[in-house]
Amino acid sequence: MKVTPITANFVADIEDVNLATINDTEFEQLYSAWLEYGVLRIRNQNLDDEQLQTFSKRFGPLEEAPFGRMSEEDKAKIKHRYVTTLSNIIADGKPIGGLGNSEATWHSDMTYIETPPPASLLLGIEIPEQGGDTHFANQYAALEALPGELRTQIAILTIKHNAAHTSVGKLRPGFEAFDDPREAPGAIHPMIRTHNESGRPALYLGRREWAYIPGLSVTESDALLDELWAYVALEENTWTQKWQPLDLIIWDNRCVMHRRDGFDQNSRRYMRRCQVLDRNAV
Ligand code: OGA
Ligand code: MN
Repeated sequence: MKVTPITANFVADIEDVNLATINDTEFEQLYSAWLEYGVLRIRNQNLDDEQLQTFSKRFGPLEEAPFGRMSEEDKAKIKHRYVTTLSNIIADGKPIGGLGNSEATWHSDMTYIETPPPASLLLGIEIPEQGGDTHFANQYAALEALPGELRTQIAILTIKHNAAHTSVGKLRPGFEAFDDPREAPGAIHPMIRTHNESGRPALYLGRREWAYIPGLSVTESDALLDELWAYVALEENTWTQKWQPLDLIIWDNRCVMHRRDGFDQNSRRYMRRCQVLDRNAV
């Protein structure tokens, strides 16, 4: 197995490995690389749902994607209930998966719950000719880029992560619309988060929309958030994945943000996805 960093400390390509048959030694090497680089890309992984789910489970306990709208009864019928679909494809008038073809703004996954899943795994199956690139931003580097005063200011602050909207800005089923970010439902986390495995601090903002810093007025909170967001995705700290079919990307939501470009609804994008809880927390 070969680990090739794409930049000095962010994103690595993993080659010469078949994730369907990876052994324990190789997996620990891959896991260490994931902790070190935050994002891994492994090309040419022709995994079916069973294989993707089995591989993902090596990172820790599988977490269901936020498809709360489905009844327990319907969920129980799904063979690989931890593998979900992201797609713009419509079949029989219904979207077959989440996020459609819209742009998804910068975010980390499910930070609006108390114990968000650290690992997200995304496998590209059908990829549009144009658009739909996924961008990643290193949040260790974002924190380091902050002016000292700003960093000191936020070291004691928390932030509320909005649970009501998806990364394409849609209201999740079961949530009411609101304007005032103080009304947003969602978990409160420290703004600077020490990664429990690497021990390194990272900026931890979740997403910009409807975020709120408890204790501040909405105006103060918005002003401080805007100031901070200027450092989230500096060009030197970001990397863009241009998908090829059968690329698998694994990122660490504790220290990485991602966003996705929109694409033409007349093209097809079809992705398989798993997310995984902390293997150390259980
Ligand atoms: C995700 C996500 C972006 C993409 O899987 O959490 O935001 O490229 N996906 O589809
Ligand atoms: Mn996401």
